[in-house]
Amino acid sequence: MVRVLPKLKAELPDLSGTGFIANALPMPILLIGPRQEVIFANPAAEQFFDTGLVLLLKQRLPDLLPFDSPLFQLIAQAQERNSTAAERDVDLSTPRHGERLADVSVTPLPDPEGVLVLTLQERSLAQRMDRQLMARGAVRSMHGMAAVLAHEIKNPLAGIRGAAQLLEEALAPSEREMTQLIIAESDRIRGLIDRMESFGDTRGFTRHPVNIHEVLDRVRKVAESGFARGVTIQETFDPSLPPVAGDRDQLIQVFLNLVRNAADALPETAGEIIVTTGYRPGVKFGTGTGGERVSLPLEVTVRDNGAGVPTDLLPHIFDPFVTTKPRGSGLGLALVAKIVGDHGGVVECDSVPGRTIFRVLLPQARSEETS
Ligand SMILES: Nc1ncnc2c1ncn2[C@@H]1O[C@H](COP(=O)(O)OP(=O)(O)OP(=O)(O)O)[C@@H](O)[C@H]1O
Ligand SMILES: [Mg+2]
Repeated sequence: MVRVLPKLKAELPDLSGTGFIANALPMPILLIGPRQEVIFANPAAEQFFDTGLVLLLKQRLPDLLPFDSPLFQLIAQAQERNSTAAERDVDLSTPRHGERLADVSVTPLPDPEGVLVLTLQERSLAQRMDRQLMARGAVRSMHGMAAVLAHEIKNPLAGIRGAAQLLEEALAPSEREMTQLIIAESDRIRGLIDRMESFGDTRGFTRHPVNIHEVLDRVRKVAESGFARGVTIQETFDPSLPPVAGDRDQLIQVFLNLVRNAADALPETAGEIIVTTGYRPGVKFGTGTGGERVSLPLEVTVRDNGAGVPTDLLPHIFDPFVTTKPRGSGLGLALVAKIVGDHGGVVECDSVPGRTIFRVLLPQARSEETS
């Protein structure tokens, strides 16, 4: 099969043979000519751009990627220095292919001059999620702090609240506004501490087979009767989904937090939350304590059509105390990450304006747990 343009083919080593190593490699590899035209693409690159070779060879790189793609800076760098330029996590998102991150290297070939070798290593979903796991470290470091704070704050707080109540009795009803404020704010701080304490809760939990649809139904009912009244919560469930190994109440808390955030983010009109479940066997993650890779086949996503998470906030949303809401604590997603992590699962977020998805992957209950 001819894989390069004929005129350059004469100058290049024979790339057409089945023995040519690039054709066998799993990562996309392209040769780019002096006018940024594609002069060679291996099968992985055809797949990456979802375009057949014949068509690829008629394209220039700017036809395949947005003109402001950071890849073009990398190419300029490689040409300028006449040596390899490489960068991790380069954004190669296009409207056609959606969001994609890849580790990219650009190497100028000495012969024929002006030709660049471009290799891409796409960040798989698994790798992206592995990074997400780092956020869990931050949550763990809260354990000790939460316990100390809880102890040091709760007692005096109860004293303050009690004092305000006593004071209130001595006041005329019209003057009670301030004491009411003290009581209400004390209650709010107490609620916050209670939530923080759940991070310090290091007691293990017994895993039971949990029907995730039952959990999600419950979440929908709570949401529709309270904070998401009047909002359409659409469900797309895979009815054959096997049970998850976990704790029902904690899982309710996870999805309640996600749906609550989705509801908070919705536009004034035509707001919509979509909850889906699905089975994805074969996706493996390095979540095990010994670094072993585990299978997390149960997928639940919560999607909303709100304004999205601001880009600079996105890498931090699972960290504790990160919030953009005037009365938010920023603990909702940290708790989600903790509980999902305790279940041996992973959670990640993809967000662009109008489309925010939280994806939770969980382990399946083993058959002996199911019986
Ligand atoms: N679906 C979403 N759409 C847009 N932004 C979101 C979404 N979910 C979370 N966020 C952003 O992430 C931040 C952190 O969320 P998190 O649930 O941890 O805290 P919070 O909702 O602000 O407060 P809390 O949950 O404690 O009441 C939010 O303040 C918001 O900026
Ligand atoms: Mg929240």
